[in-house]
Amino acid sequence: MHVAVLPGDGIGPEVTAHAERVLRVAAEKFGLTISLSRHPIGAVAVHAAGESLPKETRDAVVRADAVLLGAVGDPSLDSAPRHLKPETGLLALRSLLGVYANLRPVAIYPSLTARSPLKPERLTGVDLLIVRELTGGLYYGEPRAFDDDKAINTLRYSRAEIERVAVVAFEAARGRKKRILSVDKANVLETSQLWRRVVNDVARRYPDVTVEHSYVDFAAMRLVADPASIDVLLTENMFGDILSDEAAVLTGSLGMLPSASLGEGAGLFEPIHGSAPDIAGKGIANPIGAILSVAMLLRHSARSEVAARAVEAAVARVLGDGARTRDLVTANETAIGTEPMAERIIAALARTD
Ligand code: IPM
Ligand code: MN
Repeated sequence: MHVAVLPGDGIGPEVTAHAERVLRVAAEKFGLTISLSRHPIGAVAVHAAGESLPKETRDAVVRADAVLLGAVGDPSLDSAPRHLKPETGLLALRSLLGVYANLRPVAIYPSLTARSPLKPERLTGVDLLIVRELTGGLYYGEPRAFDDDKAINTLRYSRAEIERVAVVAFEAARGRKKRILSVDKANVLETSQLWRRVVNDVARRYPDVTVEHSYVDFAAMRLVADPASIDVLLTENMFGDILSDEAAVLTGSLGMLPSASLGEGAGLFEPIHGSAPDIAGKGIANPIGAILSVAMLLRHSARSEVAARAVEAAVARVLGDGARTRDLVTANETAIGTEPMAERIIAALARTD
């Protein structure tokens, strides 16, 4: 299989370089033939080619079997016109690949509970999966407009858009604790009323899966008050963006979380953290979100569950042994850099049988 690697901006290139190495080691170990190529996206592409998703990159990703992305974003382009913003390139990429279902698993590593803002007892049993609709809603709705006096965004969802992402969530729930929490704002929004109706229609095809509906404000509270009660959280694009950052801190650091975006064609795999310009180039970023995204790539695109689990186990092992990047240390611990962390994960991976 062929993987297009899009390092992007800020810490993106640092974390993807190490994630790539993990991918090569895992491929070799498990007898997978994987070729890689690199392409620009985000601010680096704006500066080099005048657009955030250049043609070269578009051509490469549609030919690839999977895409591994670092991060996009650059404060110097914050007030650039929309077509020159790094984020626009990422949204165009998601849309081009048609990756409508974004999976964001939130797992707690017992060795990191001290880093979590929640009390350890609230973290017992936390293992949830956010399924976020990724190619519709407010992010893409037309018309959109912006001038000095008014601004417009449009929230629009069709039955088909809701149904296909709901199916992904129900299928995922079947392989887990068989519970769906569907999050909306049906007391206010028509799109949410349709969301609820369609989710209930899909639920009829999955009698073994329990469905609960919740308003997004209440769900935000439940996510910190009782996260262990949630199995699969299914929601629309904007709510999913917000709730997934909230859920990420339960693990101790935003730097830990991977994601897989799936649709009809090639999958897109990226850590959920941003480009972190304040620490870029210093070699201190946490590579685990990117490395666990490689595990998701191995699972969903390479279809090698054994390779995926080996990478996840290697990460769990080095964390258990006390390896910590700067974002993961508590008062009396010493931090290691991006490269030593990746080295230890690779060494642990090489040792698994
Ligand atoms: C994410 C990010 C993106 C999003 C930004 C960078 C456009 O926050 O992947 O969660 O909002 O989807
Ligand atoms: Mn986000």
